[in-house]
Amino acid sequence: MLAMKKREGYEIPIHNMIKNPQQIEAIRESAKRNIEILDYVSEHIKEGMSTEDIDCLVVEKTKQLGAIAATLNYEGYSKSVCTSINNVVCHGIPSKTQILRSGDIITVDASTIYNGFFSDSARMFMIGDVKPEVERLVRVAKESLEVGLKQVIPWKTLGDMADAINQFVKKNGYSVVREIGGHGVGLEFHEEPWVSYVEKPGKGMVMAPGMIFTIEPMINMGKAAVVMDREDGWTVYTNDGLPSAQWEIMVLVTEDGHEVLAY
Ligand code: MF3
Ligand code: CO
Repeated sequence: MLAMKKREGYEIPIHNMIKNPQQIEAIRESAKRNIEILDYVSEHIKEGMSTEDIDCLVVEKTKQLGAIAATLNYEGYSKSVCTSINNVVCHGIPSKTQILRSGDIITVDASTIYNGFFSDSARMFMIGDVKPEVERLVRVAKESLEVGLKQVIPWKTLGDMADAINQFVKKNGYSVVREIGGHGVGLEFHEEPWVSYVEKPGKGMVMAPGMIFTIEPMINMGKAAVVMDREDGWTVYTNDGLPSAQWEIMVLVTEDGHEVLAY
């Protein structure tokens, strides 16, 4: 019998994943507002505040900038930001009864629409005295973005970027969440490609100039497994109850490397 060799090629981006210069400029403008919103949160976030207070800060600043929060009414989500504390991996919903305490770590994830163009980034904050081992988790999560960014070079693949992050995280004794990833962004909130951070080198979509996507690995101190809140249908927790960390940046692939649009 004749053995057929499977033809293997590279996955390449479809037309609207490649942004033209006008679109890139408009998305840059959106990202500038997104950064301003997170700067505003950075200036005001403090111990004793509720996560609902953070939502209020985002609502206030977004309005002042003439922008719209992309998460508000997105698939039934009712707030203008996601606030994920300690063992919450992502998509924590702001609440009046959830108070920031000394020792907490929190990811504030803001998504912004400006003139119809989308931007998305997240920062972490450490409240009061955070245990050194938790501080280290937050630091490694941030450093993992730099490690991934170094691989954002045209004609490499998303798997090259992902694997650099995954190996770095493993080396530090942590694990990368598999089920939830990043995404293309700009013309829509969540566009293709879906961006995994556990993909193998050389696999996944080719990074072509003009693509814009997020780098936002969720890094668990313990095991990678996550569970979704049955009641609210949004909040994702670590299965083992240990802390999780996530920062998010938005990156444009350029002719000779990349440009970070939101950090
Ligand atoms: N910013 C989040 C992301 O990176 C948005 C999640 S959708 C929400 O994809 F509705 F939960 F906010
Ligand atoms: Co995102």
